[in-house]
Amino acid sequence: MNEQHDTGGSPPAAGPAHLGQPVANLRPVGTHFDQPSYTENFYSAVGGHPTFQKLVDVFYEAVADDELLRPMYPEEDLGPAKERLRMFLEQYWGGPKTYGETRGHPRLRMRHMPFEVTPQARDRWLLHMRHAVESLQLSPLHESTLWDYLERAAHSMVNSA
Ligand code: HEM
Repeated sequence: MNEQHDTGGSPPAAGPAHLGQPVANLRPVGTHFDQPSYTENFYSAVGGHPTFQKLVDVFYEAVADDELLRPMYPEEDLGPAKERLRMFLEQYWGGPKTYGETRGHPRLRMRHMPFEVTPQARDRWLLHMRHAVESLQLSPLHESTLWDYLERAAHSMVNSA
């Protein structure tokens, strides 16, 4: 496992969070800059729960129809898997910590080991996720922040050639 790229770890390298202050308590300073701020809690800045719900709704709709990805999901009902991904992403971006409370430490690479995540599966995952992210119509800064993370995370999840 590559701990440095453990996607369940810390928030992205952006802004004063790395100076040791909790992201959640920071608010934008001044409102005269007409663009989103890195220092606001990302979860709230992009619209909170409904945004993440929509992201996973759109994503899993595509997974349900994907002949490569769909068989990888052990449960017949994709609902619980969708909820786990939503809870994880909400927590990662500064929202409720329900994921940790119900599932414990993410250890995402380890949790994906039972599944053959090939480069092809990753690309399918990313294709559907790209569409889901675009459906949110976020500001360019928020979109690229979210996308950079998801792309990096997906690449680190590959565990089979
Ligand atoms: C690269 C392609 C990927 C594939 C093919 C894949 C596939 C899967 C599968 C088959 C499961 C089991 C479904 C279940 O929860 O029961 C799962 C779980 C999960 N995946 Fe992925 N995944 C990928 C990438 C990612 C990425 C990039 C993230 C996060 C950014 C992620 C987050 C999760 C989470 C949070 C769970 C539930 C873990 C748990 O609590 O048990 N996955 N994934």
